[in-house]
Parts: sequence; structure tokens; C-alpha cells
Amino acid sequence: MTASLTLLGIETSCDETAAAVVCGRAPGPGEILSNAVFGQEDLHAAFGGVVPEIAARAHAERVDLVVMRALDEAGMELGDLDGVAVTAGPGLIGGVMAGVMAAKGIAAGAGLPLVGVNHLEGHALTPRLTDGVGFPYLLLLASGGHCQLIAVEALGAYRRFGGTIDDAPGEALDKTAKMLGLGFPGGPDVERWAENGDADRFEFPRPLIDRPDCDLSFSGLKTAAVRTKDTLVAAQGGLYHRDVADICAGFQDAVRAVLSAKTRRAMSLFRDRHQGRLDPVIAVAGGVAANRSLRAGLSKAAEAEGFRMIAPPLPLCTDNGAMIAWAGIERFAAGIAAGPVVARPRWPLDEAAQPMLGTGKKGAKA
Ligand code: KG4
Ligand code: ZN
Repeated sequence: MTASLTLLGIETSCDETAAAVVCGRAPGPGEILSNAVFGQEDLHAAFGGVVPEIAARAHAERVDLVVMRALDEAGMELGDLDGVAVTAGPGLIGGVMAGVMAAKGIAAGAGLPLVGVNHLEGHALTPRLTDGVGFPYLLLLASGGHCQLIAVEALGAYRRFGGTIDDAPGEALDKTAKMLGLGFPGGPDVERWAENGDADRFEFPRPLIDRPDCDLSFSGLKTAAVRTKDTLVAAQGGLYHRDVADICAGFQDAVRAVLSAKTRRAMSLFRDRHQGRLDPVIAVAGGVAANRSLRAGLSKAAEAEGFRMIAPPLPLCTDNGAMIAWAGIERFAAGIAAGPVVARPRWPLDEAAQPMLGTGKKGAKA
């Protein structure tokens, strides 16, 4: 068994400036000693989406502060750490560079080893940090920048079964919310409005649901929402509250239906590939996985396929430094943490898979 390590993790790839101190050893669970996040919603709200230049500047201004907060909350100094882990990609390159430069400075100044972590690997290994799940397991990552179904087979061994060919679901939710005049980020608002809506009033498409693979598409749903709104506005001069609620409910229902169906398909592929796995696990991650209707849909799908579903607590589903620290702990322990740390805008987990199409507002699809 490897020794327990204590790492500082830094995350700046999108719109969260985050740092955490985590202690533990593979396969987990680990102990999160602090998990500090400085969000940037206020800076981007007026634009209805993340503005890369604003995000990069805010990361550069705040990354030192969030690291100090994380160390303070953990009651530690740099000298108490075994190393530093930083997100080196994929993501908005200005933000990634701000984090990587800060981490290089901290590691060099304190004489600590540094590891560059793939942000998606951070999400992918979170079920080990929280629940000590053994390899292999299936992961659905659904956020504002990503949507992928991946088999996590070993540290550094990932197989992508499918992903979005255009928008990420969170991106589609955010754009639809903006179009309806709701807040940013849009997902939580859409969920709130959907509670009082009639999901059957408008017919939303179920993109790619009949295709026998695990790929997803969300941009057509967004277009359907715009068309529904335009038709209503032309007919009645504006939208009633009921209309907004019904559009949100229909949209959310379509997202739930396609994500549940494709996840079921991925579970069956996973089972074919890993027949020896007796207690198969599906883990969910990403901000969209906070959605209760989606969680209910996924949990039904998991039950039908005989999978145990693991949904980490929300602060560990959304972007955070703890998952980066944990991925660093696993990499140091396995002796695969060496090499230069270079910021990468695109960095697929499954290097052998075909690149996905399109680049979203929140960064290149990986
Ligand atoms: O993982 P995350 O914090 O950041 C990245 O995109 O990497 O995910 C943010 C996304 C946003 O698009 C937001 O609208 C969505 O997650 N989201 C939700 C909910 N809470 C956040 N979507 C649906 N329902 C929610 N309750
Ligand atoms: Zn993320």
C-alpha cells in the first residue's frame, strides 16, 4: 500500500478559481481538508455566458488568494504539503495558463513536486475521492463545457463510449435560459421554473435518441426552444409565466430523456466490456448532474440495468480544486506524475477516440 499524500490542487480552467488541500491514498476515499472556490458568475452574468478574457483576468487576480484561503482552512503551510497539482487542460487557455503559472511559482518557491492534471481526469476520479470506488466504472460527465460517457478503466486508461457532437447540455440550458430572460447560470433557473411547468405542452425533439450509439446533441433542442418562444410571441405578443414554465419543463424533460437513454446504452456497452465487474457503478459528475429530474431519470436507468449510482455532493460535481488534488495524489502514488507541465486547450481523456465536433463557448470539446 502506498503512503498517504497531502496535495494542494488548483483549478482555473473555466469560470471557477478554486484550490483545495486533500490527503489520502488510492483507491480512496480521501480526506478533503479544505475546498475553496471563488465563482465568477457576477462577472459573466451580463453576457449570459463565460467571456474567456474576463475569466482569465479574474483567475490571474484571484488564484493566489484562493490558494491562501485553501491553506488557511486546512490549517497548513506550504511546507506541510507533499506536492502541488494543477489543471493543465482542457479548458479556456488564458485561465489554464493563469493556474499553471501560479502553480509553477508555488512549487518552485516551496521546493515541491508539481503535476499537471487533466481536468476531465479530475472529474473522472472523483468517485474514488468520495467513495473509494474500484476500477472499472462508468462515468457520465454533464456540465457547461462537457458531455461524455466514459469507462474509467484504470488510472490513465479511459474509454469514451460517446459524447456531445455540438453543445454541452449546460451550455444549451444556459442559452435557453438567457433567451427566456432567466438568470445565469441558467440550469438552476430552468429547474426551478420547470417545477410548475407542463412538460407535455410543447413537443421537444429527442436528438439522436434512435441512433444506436452513445453520442448526444443539444443544439437542436435550443433551436426548438427559440422556435417555440417565437411562435408564442407572434401569436400573443409576449410570454406568460405559464409559457416560460412549460418551455423549461419540456426542455428539461428532453435533456433527461436523451441523457438517460444514452447512459443506459453506455451501461450495456460497459457490461459487455467488463463482464467480470460484479457490482457495476455509474457515477455522475458536472454541474448539470445537480438537476433533480435528471438524477431521478439516471437513477431509474441505473436500477433497470443493475448498476449502483454514485452522485458526489454538489460542490464535488461542479469544478473544484479537490478533484485536481486527488488526481495528483493518484498520479504521484503511481509514479506517473513526471514531465513538463504545459497548458493545453484541448486534451481528450481517451486519446484514441475520434475528436468530437464543435467547440463550445466554455472551451474546446475534449
Ligand atoms: O460543472 P460546472 O460547474 O462547470 C463547467 O461547465 O465545467 O457546470 C456548470 C453548468 C452550467 O451550465 C449550469 O447551468 C449547469 O451546470 N447547472 C445545472 C444545474 N445547476 C448547474 N443544470 C441543470 N440543473 C441544475 N440544477
Ligand atoms: Zn468541469
